Amino acid sequence: MKNLNRFFTLVLVAAALLAFLAVPVSAYSQKKTKQETLALFPDNVSPIFNSSCIGCHSDQSNGKAKTFLNFSEWDKLDAKDQAKTAKQIRKVVSKGAMPPAGFLNKKPEAALSAEQVANIFAWSKTVKKGH
Ligand code: HEC
Repeated sequence: MKNLNRFFTLVLVAAALLAFLAVPVSAYSQKKTKQETLALFPDNVSPIFNSSCIGCHSDQSNGKAKTFLNFSEWDKLDAKDQAKTAKQIRKVVSKGAMPPAGFLNKKPEAALSAEQVANIFAWSKTVKKGH
């Protein structure tokens, strides 16, 4: 009888532990919808990322671009990594390296205007200051 009680207590503790662990694990692996991804960014840049970037750089994409930069995982970066990533975004945008030329041949409307580039720059600098 005593052994049986001990066994059930053990099973209960193990079940509670598993339930406790399963919550954060599933929250981490959950993919964001396009809307959830865009909501991570302020209104002056999220429409730009939407039309020119997240088709390749988000949970919605299956290509390799996501392994370089995934806008859907922005909230998983700490302040330092967000600043680093914002700086990287500023760099590729100012060089005209992103969106890639091959993509712009097929979708010229995704090319960034001077105003859009300026918005990305302004946003990226606020991230650098840790906002
Ligand atoms: C057609 C798909 C596509 C689109 C659209 C796109 N990218 Fe990329 N991006 C890539 C790929 C692929 C890579 C991987 C590196 C490479 O091939 O140049 C990449 C790499 C990057 C990197 C990492 C560069 C590095 O040196 O590690 C950044 C930052 C980036 N993109 C930002 C952006 C931003 C910002 C936009 C929108 C203005 C954008 N990308 C639009 C496909 C895309």
